Amino acid sequence: MAGILTAATLALASGAMAQLLNCAEVPQCPIPNTLSQCRVDGRLMTAIGVGNFSSAISQSPLTWTVTYSMALDATAVDERRYYLGYPPELDIQALPSVSSCALFFTGIEAGLSFVKDGDTRQKGPTPGTCDDALGTTCVADLMKQAQGLATSNQDCTTLAQMLQVAPPTSCTGAGNWGNIVAMPLNGSTPVQTTDCHPTSNSTYELASVALFPELFPHDYFNDVTPLMTVFMPSANDTGDTVTSGLSVPEVHLNCMKPLNVVSNYQVVDSGTVPGTEIAMALVFLMVGLQGLSWLA
Ligand SMILES: *[C@@H]1O[C@H](CO)[C@@H](O)[C@H](O)[C@H]1NC(C)=O
Ligand SMILES: *[C@@H]1O[C@H](CO)[C@@H](O)[C@H](O)[C@H]1NC(C)=O
Ligand SMILES: *[C@@H]1O[C@H](CO)[C@@H](O)[C@H](O)[C@H]1NC(C)=O
Ligand SMILES: *[C@@H]1O[C@H](CO)[C@@H](O)[C@H](O)[C@H]1NC(C)=O
Repeated sequence: MAGILTAATLALASGAMAQLLNCAEVPQCPIPNTLSQCRVDGRLMTAIGVGNFSSAISQSPLTWTVTYSMALDATAVDERRYYLGYPPELDIQALPSVSSCALFFTGIEAGLSFVKDGDTRQKGPTPGTCDDALGTTCVADLMKQAQGLATSNQDCTTLAQMLQVAPPTSCTGAGNWGNIVAMPLNGSTPVQTTDCHPTSNSTYELASVALFPELFPHDYFNDVTPLMTVFMPSANDTGDTVTSGLSVPEVHLNCMKPLNVVSNYQVVDSGTVPGTEIAMALVFLMVGLQGLSWLA
């Protein structure tokens, strides 16, 4: 499949096909079900999902982590938080030389799932890609639209507004877009982590980018949030590959969802056997736990 795509298409669609990783699949992420604790920004996380993408501004891939934390009492609500993971050699505070945005498609998230047509498994444990959630045509149209808008060097808020008011018709089948929330990335500061470090590379910094409390009671855990990362060379940067590594805008799309650790049950289905007995036991434990949560 990749063979028939041009290099340009591949760069543009970076992230759209990337698989999300769960807590068991990244280093330094204690699995909450084992009663280990992972606190990020002071909140105990219930589950995480980690996506990645490659950018010209960084030699190593960047990551997005969504964490889910449960309300601890009746006055609180569940929360999803988002962290950008980046290698320590990338100076995130220097990003103003590149206009950088994270666009959270929060209006549509409750209407999206990774379940493919004809898949009888439940919505919850299934990992997936933006192609699964939005459809390949919508993903392609949306990336093209964003690329076009970013080329005229919009600021983050303007870009979000323009994408919000006129979604591609191939995308409106899933419902109205609703809100798109824009967050600039250059203002982010790294968070301190102690007992866990939920990203795919333990050397990476994690910058807190956004926090979304549950706004209305629903199955918030299983919402799928399209997250678009846009890097736009600033006017002074155009054509200058020294300053930022960017000469044209980059658009990346990840579809984010916290994953139960059991989500790799698909590995078991496909007959791929984990390497050690401990890993095997863990998989069975996870399947067992998932069985319980299906009953609940
Ligand atoms: C993202 O991570 C996966 C799993 O570790 C890896 O196979 C893939 O190459 C990565 N993609 C990018 C764009 O870095
Ligand atoms: C982790 O990131 C560093 C760059 O900070 C890179 O050199 C290293 O290869 C990465 N490790 C893995 C396992 O991807
Ligand atoms: C982020 O970049 C924008 C645009 O260059 C700039 O106006 C803003 O002050 C920057 N914010 C921080 C915290 O550096
Ligand atoms: C960018 O260029 C404009 C006009 O040439 C100039 O006023 C501004 O100071 C420049 N900004 C930076 C960060 O170099």
